[in-house]
Amino acid sequence: MRKKIVAGNWKMNTLPAEGVELAQGVVAKSAEVCDCVNFIVCPPFTHLAQVAEALKGSKVELGAQNCAAEAKGAYTGEVAASMIAALGCKYVILGHSERRQYYGETSETLNKKMEQAYANGLTPIYCVGENLDEREAGNHFAVCKAQIEEVVFNLTEEQFKNLVIAYEPVWAIGTGKTATAEQAQEIHAYIREVLAAKFGELAAECPILYGGSCKPSNAAEIFAKEDVDGGLIGGAALKAEDFIAIGKGFMA
Ligand code: PGA
Repeated sequence: MRKKIVAGNWKMNTLPAEGVELAQGVVAKSAEVCDCVNFIVCPPFTHLAQVAEALKGSKVELGAQNCAAEAKGAYTGEVAASMIAALGCKYVILGHSERRQYYGETSETLNKKMEQAYANGLTPIYCVGENLDEREAGNHFAVCKAQIEEVVFNLTEEQFKNLVIAYEPVWAIGTGKTATAEQAQEIHAYIREVLAAKFGELAAECPILYGGSCKPSNAAEIFAKEDVDGGLIGGAALKAEDFIAIGKGFMA
């Protein structure tokens, strides 16, 4: 049985007090959803500690949105994986398309970040996905395959057992355009096939989340697909009610 996960990527939103309030709302409402659904919130670095406090004793887990490629030292402005782990993070989002696109993250950087995440006991939520031109040219399979081969294929089996993948088509992120449930299933199944080529039966255990304009009205249909194990949620994660309603998609 694969884990069912609904993870909230808050991106660069909320001030500390707002983040705490949002986290408290998520904790309160999470009781409405069966324990089989794992909720994760990923606030900005600045309020990880306060949100960790708000999540204490609840089933909602904490993640960060990024970590540095190096362990420590003279890297002004960077935040090490050891630091976010010390604040109570269990997860870290790596390779989000916004990081790849705006901050030039390459597979080379991401290999180092993955290494740092594992060295500090974090589970990476590794993002892959094609942009609109790549989708229209029919290259989405090749793009996702390369993003997996160049990074995930460097993991050991032990590391792979602690990995979450998020498929996020760039054309669906923050655009209100969602992939259809069929499009999601098609590529999730393909991603699992690519993973199986390297990790064999372990690929069946790897949670693969869908991300891109996922909301309460479309979550149930997408999550019903065999190879979709949950969602990585941006905009709709900023309202506790919507975020939890997405989790209820598993109970529909
Ligand atoms: P969105 O973002 O839900 O706002 O489209 C998803 C993401 O980027 O993780």
